[in-house]
Amino acid sequence: MKRTLIGTTATLGLAFLPGTALTHEDHSCAPGFPDAPVLPGHVHQSDIVSGKMSFEEITAAGKALFVGQFNTCDGQGRPSATGTGNKRLPDEPAFIRTSAPESNSCSGCHAQPRAGGAGDIVTSVFVLAQALDPVTFSVAPEFSNERNTLGMNGSGAIEMLSREMTVELQAQADALPDGTHTLTTKGVEFEITKTGGVVTESKGVDTDLVVKPFHQAGVVVSLREFSTNAMNHHHGMQAEERFDMNPAKGFESDFDEDGIHRELTIGDMTANTLWQAQLGVPGRVMPEERSERARVDHGEAMFDDLGCTSCHVPKMTLESRYFVEPNPFNPPGTCSDLTVCPEYRFDMTRQGEGPHLEKGKKGGAIVRAYTDLKRHNLCDDVSHPDPIRHFCNEQLAQGRPDQDGKPGTEFFLTRKLWDVGNSAPYGHRGDLTTITEAILAHGGEARTTRDAFVASDTQDQAAVVSFLKTLQVLPPEEDDDD
Ligand code: HEC
Ligand code: HEC
Repeated sequence: MKRTLIGTTATLGLAFLPGTALTHEDHSCAPGFPDAPVLPGHVHQSDIVSGKMSFEEITAAGKALFVGQFNTCDGQGRPSATGTGNKRLPDEPAFIRTSAPESNSCSGCHAQPRAGGAGDIVTSVFVLAQALDPVTFSVAPEFSNERNTLGMNGSGAIEMLSREMTVELQAQADALPDGTHTLTTKGVEFEITKTGGVVTESKGVDTDLVVKPFHQAGVVVSLREFSTNAMNHHHGMQAEERFDMNPAKGFESDFDEDGIHRELTIGDMTANTLWQAQLGVPGRVMPEERSERARVDHGEAMFDDLGCTSCHVPKMTLESRYFVEPNPFNPPGTCSDLTVCPEYRFDMTRQGEGPHLEKGKKGGAIVRAYTDLKRHNLCDDVSHPDPIRHFCNEQLAQGRPDQDGKPGTEFFLTRKLWDVGNSAPYGHRGDLTTITEAILAHGGEARTTRDAFVASDTQDQAAVVSFLKTLQVLPPEEDDDD
């Protein structure tokens, strides 16, 4: 009988991994256990920074961490840790769909239209249920916030926009006396109040003025912070920067007591972050027919006329084209110490999956994400004669402070729309199947705009929807960097 030999790495799609730079160290199956980890090895930050690993090798390793279906030899599972990284009694189920671990790989959820993208409603997450697992009423709003899977295409640019905005906001606030002021960064206004030399109130952003562009509630600073959370939450894979090396976790090297130490190195998290940051930037898919194209153009103009662009800002400018890892505003437990995770940068307009970010003037870049990276409240007050409250279901603040005397639970970041054409379903829960329903669900700060949409004629409404459908994650393009 003829046998075909297929290398294990090739069958897993990890064939491009640079064997040389990866080692297993503390990372293997128990002695005598006749199986192997899915990860072919760990990435060393020193090999990233020294240039021993090329950009392509780093991102291939980062992708392997995103698509690999972790097994127990990798350290999958967290018998003694909750999904928020606290201790628990090691008597819980290995997998539990609602409070996690609930999936085998990041791409188990982020797969639309391909790895790194958004997700179907079946991939929704009950955020904060992971703190209590297993939970009895885990999907009830008293315990968790149901959230639909978002896509990461273009997120390198999103992280860098928020960093540039943070620097500007903090500098403006520092220079101002006590009182109420409006700060402006990249054309977006934020109202703040300073008392006794410190910012005591702010709208749309926390009082630390750090723009947090990730999580639909806008509570996470960087791709790295999010991914380190997600690794533990969804897979029980602990990053050493969050656990083994973290004084807050008592430098415990096997915090989750699954027998595997150093499950993810600093280099692994850098590679995983860089892979997400370099994913192709969403763009436009225009209809072939001329009349259809004219309709799309009309819809784009209507989108502006109606006032949608006051929040869904069509275009923002980055001063620098580079994605720079790590993020200086990372919270403790996410590497930001340059002696431990020295800086690594790549040019988002030239390197990575492609389509690349559009070049701007003077070394800058243009980001067409249709967001202002600011939190808004789309909830009409209950006293409104015809209140729209679809987006007001949440009960857990999840790091959002009260604003305008309203519970923070009603505040969400303006959703990026640059992938709205192929990231159904819609809304933070993913419980809306059409773009139209998502528009009609805008109340609160967007009520006037939404009512203007309703009052416009059906042709105009259809044109707006047609325009939005042209905004899509595009097929990957070859890297043109040599
Ligand atoms: C069970 C499904 C699921 C799995 C598995 C999963 N995610 Fe997610 N991911 C989500 C959901 C849902 C959101 C939106 C969260 C929110 O808004 O609160 C999200 C959001 C994100 C974001 C923020 C995107 C943004 O624009 O705000 C990043 C980054 C991310 N995930 C990375 C990862 C990584 C890395 C992994 C693997 C370690 C992973 N995710 C595994 C469901 C999942
Ligand atoms: C006051 C700011 C604001 C205005 C004005 C606004 N939006 Fe939004 N939009 C948001 C926020 C915030 C969300 C996220 C809502 C949620 O899921 O909780 C959103 C979500 C959406 C979504 C859902 C996207 C998805 O992938 O789930 C669509 C579509 C959308 N907006 C279109 C529009 C259109 C069209 C207009 C103008 C008629 C408009 N928006 C006006 C803030 C705004």
